[in-house]
Amino acid sequence: MIVKNETTPTIKELVERAGLRHIAFIMDGNGRWATSRLLPREAGHKAGAEVFRKIVRYCKDIGIKCCTVYAFSTENWNRPKTEVEAIMKLLEKYAAEADGEKEISFHFIGDKAPLADAMREKLENLERNTAGRPYILNIALNYGGRAEIVNAVNTLIEAGKTEITESDISAVLYTNHCPDPDLVVRTGKELRISNFLLWQSAYAEYYFSEKMWPELTEGDIDEAVRSFAGRKRRWGGLDEA
Ligand code: IPE
Ligand code: IPE
Ligand code: MG
Repeated sequence: MIVKNETTPTIKELVERAGLRHIAFIMDGNGRWATSRLLPREAGHKAGAEVFRKIVRYCKDIGIKCCTVYAFSTENWNRPKTEVEAIMKLLEKYAAEADGEKEISFHFIGDKAPLADAMREKLENLERNTAGRPYILNIALNYGGRAEIVNAVNTLIEAGKTEITESDISAVLYTNHCPDPDLVVRTGKELRISNFLLWQSAYAEYYFSEKMWPELTEGDIDEAVRSFAGRKRRWGGLDEA
């Protein structure tokens, strides 16, 4: 029997104490999860979409105000057409049903221009209909960190700027409505960032999981939060004496 010690903080308390305001996920490993089960890669994306719903709700329940998920990168267009279409269909389906997530404000970060008109409309409707809700969910779709920075610089040039500061850039990034990520979690065993939130992650903490994304559980989020809460973020300074 596990007896809860009075002094053991709950995960919610740890989130609060550690100042975990923004968690970001590189949801990797759907394809390998499926092929290792002799299933088509698309089945992995379908399972991944279910886990994504569950994890987003859990992050909200433990009090994390902002969550970002990497759903489709600017480089993922290099995949077979059938796989790209399957991922887009899942995202469209999610967007069509997502209104029901009553406390979440949806933001699609990335370049929506190349998306089909009907899909873009659905995403923009969802953004409009959910604006101002207390929890933020950023879904990175056709997102690339480099493309985002280039887009930001071009926006500043168009506005007539000839000299720019760091805050000028931050102010025109896709994520200008939320703080920088405190914790970036990547599943799927790869130890890289794959063009995700390059500017915003300057001082993020990283947590890598060996699990494939469809295997991720609420308990794994608890582990990541505990790991984060036990770290010292020095921001280039020194530990306080
Ligand atoms: C999902 O994982 C992430 C997306 C690009 C949609 P993958 O599809 O990259 O799965 P693996 O890495 O091939 O296993
Ligand atoms: C990163 O995963 C992109 C998403 C999770 C959407 P990838 O599978 O595309 O990354 P690489 O190709 O292994 O770096
Ligand atoms: Mg991958």
